[in-house]
Amino acid sequence: MHIDILTVLPELLESPLQHSIMKRAQEKGLLIVKVHPLRKWAVNEYGQIDDYQYGGGAGMVMMCEPLIKAIEELSVDRKYDEIIYLTPDGTTLDQKISNQLSLKKNLLLICGHYKGIDERIREHFVTKEISIGDYVLSGGELPAAVLVDAIGRLLPGVLNDETSALTDSFQDNLLAPPVYTRPVDFRGWKVPDVLMSGDHKKIEDWRHEQSLLRTKERRPGLSTE
Ligand code: ADE
Repeated sequence: MHIDILTVLPELLESPLQHSIMKRAQEKGLLIVKVHPLRKWAVNEYGQIDDYQYGGGAGMVMMCEPLIKAIEELSVDRKYDEIIYLTPDGTTLDQKISNQLSLKKNLLLICGHYKGIDERIREHFVTKEISIGDYVLSGGELPAAVLVDAIGRLLPGVLNDETSALTDSFQDNLLAPPVYTRPVDFRGWKVPDVLMSGDHKKIEDWRHEQSLLRTKERRPGLSTE
């Protein structure tokens, strides 16, 4: 999968995508992420990419020209399956959306700033609008990193058996069961006996039961959400 990201703050995206599983995905060539500094397409020598909003009011708006020029230039090299704008008023990201996006080949992500991007870009170029939750961040960079991570770990070959995404929370609309590691007894707090029984069927049943219980207690509406 190839993901291009347009941003005014490329530095913000560097570190989150260069460690752990995202690093491995890129090293294996399963995921290519290219971060493009939007100021490359600025309207003048001062690097301007935003301007005051029509109608007045506080806050700048990201202009049509730099973003549209960037989208058009990048579109010469590849046909995007989706052009995604990260915005608090988008559809809230969930595992289903992540699964669907992980099947695509080319994605272009647009990180907004200030008051957002000129509506005409949303109308004429953006194909999907995604929020990572009902709170407002300073820009779309951290949401873009979240989205790339959520999608990237689902790409075939990125995770091994041990870290398989199939046992993640949400994959069956169920939360994952509790997990334990050594020691068996820590300050008198014991690991459930069943996990030490060596009986795989029993362990599997226990985990499923715990998943159901956890989901019922913590996210009762999950299957219908
Ligand atoms: N930009 C600012 N806040 C955001 C959010 N919650 N989700 C996606 N993009 C955003």
